[in-house]
Amino acid sequence: MKILFIGDIVGSPGRNALKEYLPKLKSKYRPDVTIVNSENAAGGKGLTKKIYQEIHEIGADIMTMGNHTWDKKDIFEFIDDVPNLIRPANFPEGNPGKGYVIKKVGNKKIAVINAQGRVFMPPSDCPFKKLDEIVKIVKEETPFIFVDFHAEATSEKQAVGWFLDGEVSAVVGTHTHTQTADERILPNGTAYISDVGMTGPYDGILGMDRDVIIQRFLTNLPARFEVTAGREQCNGVVIQLDNHTGKATKIERISINEERPFFD
Ligand SMILES: [Fe+2]
Ligand SMILES: [Fe+2]
Repeated sequence: MKILFIGDIVGSPGRNALKEYLPKLKSKYRPDVTIVNSENAAGGKGLTKKIYQEIHEIGADIMTMGNHTWDKKDIFEFIDDVPNLIRPANFPEGNPGKGYVIKKVGNKKIAVINAQGRVFMPPSDCPFKKLDEIVKIVKEETPFIFVDFHAEATSEKQAVGWFLDGEVSAVVGTHTHTQTADERILPNGTAYISDVGMTGPYDGILGMDRDVIIQRFLTNLPARFEVTAGREQCNGVVIQLDNHTGKATKIERISINEERPFFD
């Protein structure tokens, strides 16, 4: 079982980069399942129905979200009707949508879980307890379990990685939009990376217009963040799992930009 995961798609530059690189990545790596974090896909914040469909058509099998899940009100209209879109599982009781999905992949199944951190993040229920609860449920059905842990602090991300080592196939971090070089397989077989990075503008600050953000730091005045244009990047990770145990055997970072072009 091979998983291709692509980090936070930021606005139309992110969708363009996905359109350009996802087919190439698929023909290079031949993943069994492709997962894409889509929390910033619509104008940098949230997801609309149209853009959900667009990302699905580009080739995402499953889409994960994060703290920007509810930023476009459109999502309330369709999140409960689509099978392959999940939002953090530890959002409080009563939130629409779901926090995990089990998808058939050939003659196997993969469980994909989305959770959100609590350090420097909006309030949510305990991600550790919620993940533990869900892992116990999905384990009954499949040993292939993938977690997108959407969080700011590397400490909290590492804690989730070690907490779930041997319990799940992979814990990958999203949200910081900045790829970390700490990919590894933990001793009990869980692939781990603190953050896979983003897909979208390469010369902004986390994908946003850098001048606006620099002004904000200089003046503390409120400013409207806009997705910037120009050169693009695509970041993610490919994870190979043992076909019987579900344990990770390989994790490889994907980082494509002008300085590190795509190679077949
Ligand atoms: Fe994001
Ligand atoms: Fe986020």
